[in-house]
Amino acid sequence: MNAARIIADKRDGKRISDERLADLIAAYTRGEVPDYQMAAFAMAVFFQGMQPNEVVALTREMLGSGQRMNWHGFNKPVVDKHSTGGIGDKISITLAPALAACGLAVPMISGRGLGATGGTLDKLESIPGFRTDLSIRELQQVVKEVGCVITGASDEIAPADRRLYALRDVTATVPAVPLITSSILSKKLAEGLDALVLDVKWGSGSFMKTSEAARTLAESLVSVASAMGVRSSALITDMNQPLGQMIGNAVEVDECIDVLLDVGPREIFDLTVRLGAELLVATNLADSIDSAEHELGEVIASGKAMEIFERMVRAQGGDINSDRHVGKRHKIVAEDDGFIGSIDAEALGWIVIRMGGGRRKIGDTLDHSTGLQMMVKVGEWVERGQPLVKSFCDDHDLWEQIRPDLRAAIHLVDHEVDPLPLIVDRVAPQSESETAS
Ligand code: URA
Repeated sequence: MNAARIIADKRDGKRISDERLADLIAAYTRGEVPDYQMAAFAMAVFFQGMQPNEVVALTREMLGSGQRMNWHGFNKPVVDKHSTGGIGDKISITLAPALAACGLAVPMISGRGLGATGGTLDKLESIPGFRTDLSIRELQQVVKEVGCVITGASDEIAPADRRLYALRDVTATVPAVPLITSSILSKKLAEGLDALVLDVKWGSGSFMKTSEAARTLAESLVSVASAMGVRSSALITDMNQPLGQMIGNAVEVDECIDVLLDVGPREIFDLTVRLGAELLVATNLADSIDSAEHELGEVIASGKAMEIFERMVRAQGGDINSDRHVGKRHKIVAEDDGFIGSIDAEALGWIVIRMGGGRRKIGDTLDHSTGLQMMVKVGEWVERGQPLVKSFCDDHDLWEQIRPDLRAAIHLVDHEVDPLPLIVDRVAPQSESETAS
């Protein structure tokens, strides 16, 4: 295998055969391709792109670098959701137990914060004792006992992606659609799924800044997952303002519990049941999106989803009833009357990181007690003195430092502004579009 030849061909825009890609990834996984060559390959892909069949081959090889879960003898459809990440995006925590309550198995492998966005694992670790480092054997045991699990990717899952992702992070090659596609799917498909739904976010608080860019990524993810035999669909959803009210760790878990008790913010509930409905229909457990949404609403209203969440937390070593400290409350109020014109979701994400709620560098310890609570949404009318955002922070000096940035992240205007639609579009696999037409 000649890595330099493959890099040169990619640099020149030539198609790389499945066999050569397989050789490259296998050699990289064995440690026979140095990082500088793999970084050059990533940069060549960044500039030249990849053809769809190359992305399928790359994904297959990255997936094959580790283990793939086997659910033989387990008679439930196995499903998962992946979100490209956003500020206040906590849907994994509400969705996994709701799906399990509907009879699906959910072996959810989640991540930590990336850029300004928080990570599901960090949020769940605000529950004392909660373990996110389960082995594949432990993960499968929890799914068999409870119906769902949320844990991190162990070394057994797609090790080639782990190494390549770290390289991409330091060589400015993360935002390449073929590399994002193979990275996400190599980990998700290792779960041995029957169906996958993708929540591809667009806007100021996500890494796809336009809805067109989000659509391109959604199409790539759906077509590669389908080519690999996993039913999938994607929703393109808004991330131009935080999702729900809470941003942080303990406060986001508290908000999820509110949703599972059926008293949480409407939009978290709506997105949870809409994404879940895609999976109930894909696995033939419901015959329409409407009836699937109804069923998911029922398992939340009846308390069944909350009961499964409590069992999952217990099975992963956590204690849902022990104190999750939340920092001292402060608030920012409107200085004038006006409409909320826009909210800089990304800036809010970075503020939470400054408060210790996310990492500035690998290995940072988090302060799970910090966070923000949004009191307004884009398009709302506010009056002078009305609270715009609350913060949770025990460190008074730090609060004084972030106060001006917090104020600057919420823009008031003197004219009406249309509220932003939460779900912008749906991307279906080609087979489904052909059946529909
Ligand atoms: N998340 C991933 O897992 N991989 C990427 O490349 C980007 C986001």
